[in-house]
Amino acid sequence: MSHSLHIQNLVAGVGEKKILQGIDLKINTNEIHVVMGPNGAGKSTLSNCIIGNPKYQILGGDIFFDDQNINNLKVDERARLGLFLSFQQPMSIKGVKNSDFVRQAMQACEKKCSLMNFFSQYENACEDLSIPKNFAERYLNVGFSGGEMKKNEILQMKMLKPKFAILDEIDSGLDVDACKIIGKNISEMVNENFGCLIITHQAKILEHIKINFVHVLIDGKIVKTGDINLVKKIEEQGFEWIKNEVL
Ligand SMILES: Nc1ncnc2c1ncn2[C@@H]1O[C@H](COP(=O)(O)OP(=O)(O)OP(=O)(O)O)[C@@H](O)[C@H]1O
Ligand SMILES: [Mg+2]
Repeated sequence: MSHSLHIQNLVAGVGEKKILQGIDLKINTNEIHVVMGPNGAGKSTLSNCIIGNPKYQILGGDIFFDDQNINNLKVDERARLGLFLSFQQPMSIKGVKNSDFVRQAMQACEKKCSLMNFFSQYENACEDLSIPKNFAERYLNVGFSGGEMKKNEILQMKMLKPKFAILDEIDSGLDVDACKIIGKNISEMVNENFGCLIITHQAKILEHIKINFVHVLIDGKIVKTGDINLVKKIEEQGFEWIKNEVL
């Protein structure tokens, strides 16, 4: 069964600052959407609003998961529905093992799995991502390189199998090979039960992923939507021409 994540006229901010100025976006499963935009445009704010980070206030508009309005749902409730956010800057937590963290998250999302099955899935995911198996025993992101942290985010996504993943700059700091591996792993997830929003500044990762739509977010608004050709033009010419066109 296919699903949809529908954002309608979303206005949101932090404290006194209004950041999102009316975002409309509909993502269906089986689709990959890309959001690009200048630094400070509001991309991470949009991610945080979708997942329900309480630091961000929704001032207007709605977010629907299928027919359910999720504006007032807490982060864990949204995660149980099948939403997942990979952080632009993942957190490190000393004392919490990577594997325990993922297992707890799966249990909290009511994804039942025997210990043996869990470790077999975990090892397969490590292999798919070229992550050493001893990462399971290491503390969450403690001492991880930037690229390793990003791979660890994708490992969590593969284990949790969300219906919608929002990947906030999953490609920043990745070497060429890691970029290819992560791109391939994202691509393989896409089906009737999985859709994805990729926030990025670079076209590199998109060489490995078949994308459906590209949206440009400037000053808290989606001002243009297109396909992969839009990414190429942005890489060559930046955002100024879009600002001149629409603002
Ligand atoms: N707690 C806060 N207080 C004040 N301003 C904030 C706060 N959080 C975010 N902002 C501002 O909101 C704007 C949007 O930030 P956001 O992190 O969403 O941008 P972004 O598009 O993800 O940028 P980048 O490409 O650099 O990651 C920025 O100008 C930022 O400084
Ligand atoms: Mg950001």
